[in-house]
Amino acid sequence: MNVLIIGSGGREHVMAWKISQSSLLSRLFIAPGNAGTASLGQNISISVSDFEKIGRFCLEKQIGMVVVGPEAPLVDGIHDFFLAHPDLKKISVIGPQRNAAMLEGSKDFAKAFLTRHHIPTARYRSFSKDEVNDALHFLKSMTAPYVIKADGLAAGKGVLICNDLPEAEHEVKAMLIDTKFGEASRKIVIEEFLQGIEISAFVLTDGIHYQILPSAKDYKRIGEGDTGPNTGGMGSVSPVPFADEIFNKKIEEKIITPTIRGLISEGIEYKGFIFFGLINVNGEPFVIEYNARMGDPEAESVIPRIKNDLLEMFVAVGNQTLDRLTVETDPRYAATVMLVSEGYPGSYEKNKPVAGLDEVKDSIVFHAGTIFDQEKQQVITQGGRVLALTSFGSTMQEAFDRSYESAYLIRFENKAFRKDLGRDLMKYVFLNA
Ligand code: AMP
Ligand code: GLY
Repeated sequence: MNVLIIGSGGREHVMAWKISQSSLLSRLFIAPGNAGTASLGQNISISVSDFEKIGRFCLEKQIGMVVVGPEAPLVDGIHDFFLAHPDLKKISVIGPQRNAAMLEGSKDFAKAFLTRHHIPTARYRSFSKDEVNDALHFLKSMTAPYVIKADGLAAGKGVLICNDLPEAEHEVKAMLIDTKFGEASRKIVIEEFLQGIEISAFVLTDGIHYQILPSAKDYKRIGEGDTGPNTGGMGSVSPVPFADEIFNKKIEEKIITPTIRGLISEGIEYKGFIFFGLINVNGEPFVIEYNARMGDPEAESVIPRIKNDLLEMFVAVGNQTLDRLTVETDPRYAATVMLVSEGYPGSYEKNKPVAGLDEVKDSIVFHAGTIFDQEKQQVITQGGRVLALTSFGSTMQEAFDRSYESAYLIRFENKAFRKDLGRDLMKYVFLNA
């Protein structure tokens, strides 16, 4: 089978790495891909939003499966586009249709869905542009910190946590009146602040059945000790030491099963990954958000732990036979350290040559923001997040130590990374030991 992966980050590299190990694979293409995916398949210079071109390419290359990495093409309806086209509709698309991707594309939709299906989540209310006064009034009924979310996709920047009322009032007006996040903040969600530690849970579903994948914890803030602005993710680890059997059972019973049942009961067909952004509040899981895709950099620690043939799992999604599989997981820890360009998530410089890639022996190197410069015949930096280093270890510490050793072997100008990953979880490791 010929496969096309859509996207260009570390998540797409790890998928390419895993799919390229499948005996079911004939040819692998990645659009647009990066310097890492180029060594596993053929990178195609097509934008993730150019559905017409993607469709034509699929017909030309006899693609049997399209795996969609990022959320934007899903929310924009890439799967619907394929289904609406007589020649494309037989191609299996991994990633939900637009109506199901709204679980990520609209916070208001997600909150209403969670509420309808009695799934634990923070109490909330939504407000549109003509309800500014109601929103300000509602804020006064809450206590600090105030959580204000733009309804639509805002590249991970649409959630604001304000410590005092004047700041919260200012942000509500900035979002609704001054359209701070453009279309995305024409509507907002204001919700109760939940105190706890976060965990990302994942399932793969074929629309009827689901398989639970290993969970992970990611590190969103740029600064050590979880300080500073949010990033796409500075690292991840799987499994998560505090997620013991009892907690995992609660996640499945209170969150995963009702979500899948809810989708089915509402006639929303979902084929692909569901990412549950959860928070552990005194031993109880609550949903912070849904995403319609794998996490990044969670994918870089989760997917290497899956022993199954990923392409075979995707074929089962297409055929709705996912119940016939058993997911086998590597019991070891996988820890991912992200190397970024200094300045990220603010402005940073690009086009820096990357050295030392061949010196890494104890980690898997996944490219996140790189391209291969044909003229210089060299890998150069192309994004804020540049490379993800994933290592296995029989303990979390060992896994992170290996990734850190590799992090020092790789050299590029203005390289930066967090050096405290996993430290917050050490107390749980000792508790469970
Ligand atoms: P989201 O984009 O919805 O994942 O939100 C981004 C981040 O904001 C989350 O990862 C949490 O750290 C934080 N957050 C969102 N909602 C809440 C909440 N209700 N209580 C506490 N923290 C939250
Ligand atoms: N790591 C969080 C995300 O993928 O949204």
